[in-house]
Amino acid sequence: MKHSSMHDGRQILSKFLLGFILLYMSNGLESAALSSSTFGNESDRLALLDFKKMITEDPQNIMSSWNDSTDFCGWRGVTCNNSNKRVLTLKLNSQNLVGSLPPSIGNLTYLTGINLTSNGFHGEIPQEIGRLRSLEYLNLSYNSFGGKIPTNMSTCTQLKVLSIYSNKLTGSIPDQLSLLLNLNHLWVDYNSLPGTIPYWVGNFSYLKTVYLGSNNLQGIIPKELGRLTSLERFSLQANNLSGRVPVSFHLEMLLDLRGLMCSEILSLGHSTVKILEAYGA
Ligand SMILES: *[C@@H]1O[C@H](CO)[C@@H](O)[C@H](O)[C@H]1NC(C)=O
Ligand SMILES: *[C@@H]1O[C@H](CO)[C@@H](O)[C@H](O)[C@H]1NC(C)=O
Ligand SMILES: *[C@@H]1O[C@H](CO)[C@@H](O)[C@H](O)[C@H]1NC(C)=O
Ligand SMILES: *[C@@H]1O[C@H](CO)[C@@H](O)[C@H](O)[C@H]1NC(C)=O
Ligand SMILES: *[C@@H]1O[C@H](CO)[C@@H](O)[C@H](O)[C@H]1NC(C)=O
Ligand SMILES: *[C@@H]1O[C@H](CO)[C@@H](O)[C@H](O)[C@H]1NC(C)=O
Ligand SMILES: *[C@@H]1O[C@H](CO)[C@@H](O)[C@H](O)[C@H]1NC(C)=O
Ligand SMILES: *[C@@H]1O[C@H](CO)[C@@H](O)[C@H](O)[C@H]1NC(C)=O
Repeated sequence: MKHSSMHDGRQILSKFLLGFILLYMSNGLESAALSSSTFGNESDRLALLDFKKMITEDPQNIMSSWNDSTDFCGWRGVTCNNSNKRVLTLKLNSQNLVGSLPPSIGNLTYLTGINLTSNGFHGEIPQEIGRLRSLEYLNLSYNSFGGKIPTNMSTCTQLKVLSIYSNKLTGSIPDQLSLLLNLNHLWVDYNSLPGTIPYWVGNFSYLKTVYLGSNNLQGIIPKELGRLTSLERFSLQANNLSGRVPVSFHLEMLLDLRGLMCSEILSLGHSTVKILEAYGA
């Protein structure tokens, strides 16, 4: 339900998808010219091979295309920047892959997008992800990543999308993430995150959607969230939160606040009716 009718989310997605498609097409056109001459950057190639090595199950045999008969820019799920032949995106969503993410993912320093959603990735998200200073899109949803959200992700300051919902992440949302001021979408729901909702999320002025539901969050909803003027959607269901919801939150936001204490919900002014509906749902 939450993923439908997300106008701006779709715009961002289609921008990235277009990027994927355009790059894919231009790679195809150039591959003939490339085949025997310039192969891409060697450290990118080694990092990709290391990624492949960590895949333990690949029922669709996706990774077999990752072999030395072709330039890695032509490997399934890989797109490159055509001007410098560095890996630009890694898109292997919904391929039934099982494995873990090696620290050498951080060697792919030109990456702007990673989409590994809907696979069986487990283990921790490596701290080395922080070396990806150009990363704008990270979608690791629907996997089994455990451990903590890496603090070093704070250096991925270009991130617009951080989608790590539906994993097994534990550990509170690290304060270091307060530096991700360009975030448009923060989806961390359906994990086991304890702790409180960080007040500094109120500094993310481009934030359009925040999903925090179905974690172990406690405490109050920080009043700073009331500063998020671009916010369109917000979910908190199935946590253990209390306190007032910022009055600036609009009726249209389709708040999903189940799990809040009923008495507190009455402090919502003009939004009361909608909230009670959401609460009762
Ligand atoms: C990532 O994969 C998911 C699942 O297929 C898809 O919904 C999403 O649009 C993809 N995003 C990008 C940028 O490729
Ligand atoms: C990744 O980069 C580090 C540091 O430059 C290097 O030591 C390591 O061997 C690289 N890993 C791979 C798999 O290429
Ligand atoms: C190597 O990859 C190409 C596609 O990139 C594929 O056609 C070929 O079958 C692969 N070779 C092996 C031995 O899997
Ligand atoms: C591709 O690489 C060039 C040269 O390093 C860089 O200027 C450009 O921004 C890159 N493009 C993307 C989409 O990252
Ligand atoms: C991440 O992938 C899931 C599919 O697994 C998709 O539903 C969702 O829209 C993606 N998130 C973003 C922000 O692109
Ligand atoms: C994490 O970030 C710190 C500070 O920038 C850095 O010193 C350290 O090498 C990073 N760790 C990894 C594993 O990249
Ligand atoms: C949030 O923004 C305020 C100013 O708007 C600033 O004083 C504060 O340091 C910021 N907090 C964090 C954690 O970045
Ligand atoms: C909910 O949070 C309150 C404190 O805010 C705490 O006393 C209570 O034990 C928590 N309940 C659960 C089920 O965690």
